[in-house]
Amino acid sequence: MSKTFTLDGKPIPFEDGQTVIQAALAAGSYIPHLCHHPEFKPHGSCKLCTVKADGRQTASCTLPAAEGMVVESETEELNAERRALTQMLFVEGNHFCPSCEKSGDCQLQATAYHLNMMSPHYDHFFPNRPLDASHPDYLLDFNRCILCSLCVRASRDVDGKSVFALAGRGIKTHLIINAKSGKLADTDFSASDRAANVCPVGVILPKRRGFAVPIGERTFDKHPIADYADTRLAQPEK
Ligand code: SF4
Ligand code: FES
Repeated sequence: MSKTFTLDGKPIPFEDGQTVIQAALAAGSYIPHLCHHPEFKPHGSCKLCTVKADGRQTASCTLPAAEGMVVESETEELNAERRALTQMLFVEGNHFCPSCEKSGDCQLQATAYHLNMMSPHYDHFFPNRPLDASHPDYLLDFNRCILCSLCVRASRDVDGKSVFALAGRGIKTHLIINAKSGKLADTDFSASDRAANVCPVGVILPKRRGFAVPIGERTFDKHPIADYADTRLAQPEK
């Protein structure tokens, strides 16, 4: 018999070595998250996956599942904290959804909808980060980066290229391109890279393909983010 823990009162089976979020998503129970991705090692930066495990708050993407653990996720308290974290992400960057081609396909936006985020609440920082349009096939809009490091992990661990990296500290942390010029065109990044298709928001964008999907048919028009089990949006399970 497999081991289980409970998530909001529901038994969740798990294998040794699985984290709480891995087991929960595999069982069709959504825990909000942005930097977790089933293909990559945990990063633990967004903190949206925070749950209360045996009474203590912790990130479920780095927490190994344990027999008999009592985990709470869908509580008013935790969702209010997740909403605040999401609002912080919105004001730290320039997330102006009405003019963003990722709208309807963006996991940050979909998570904000899931958490009933009705306003940004905090003052906008209005950063001014120049775009990188140097690559023939891809555009980078750094103003929307949530520093999830998925592109860093994909480029390093899957593509073997290390095109992307996070540099700086604190509020100055930012995404950089690993080329002397700092430009994407001066790397061996290509459209077939895993890193080209992993950004959950609107930073790494293919050129000449914006606004191609009609409103009503975009990923999250059809299903809310919580319907996508072990996520990254293969197919909704419900
Ligand atoms: S560019 Fe996208 S994938 Fe890379 S760190 Fe920023 S938000 Fe994450
Ligand atoms: S998904 Fe766990 S910290 Fe981001």
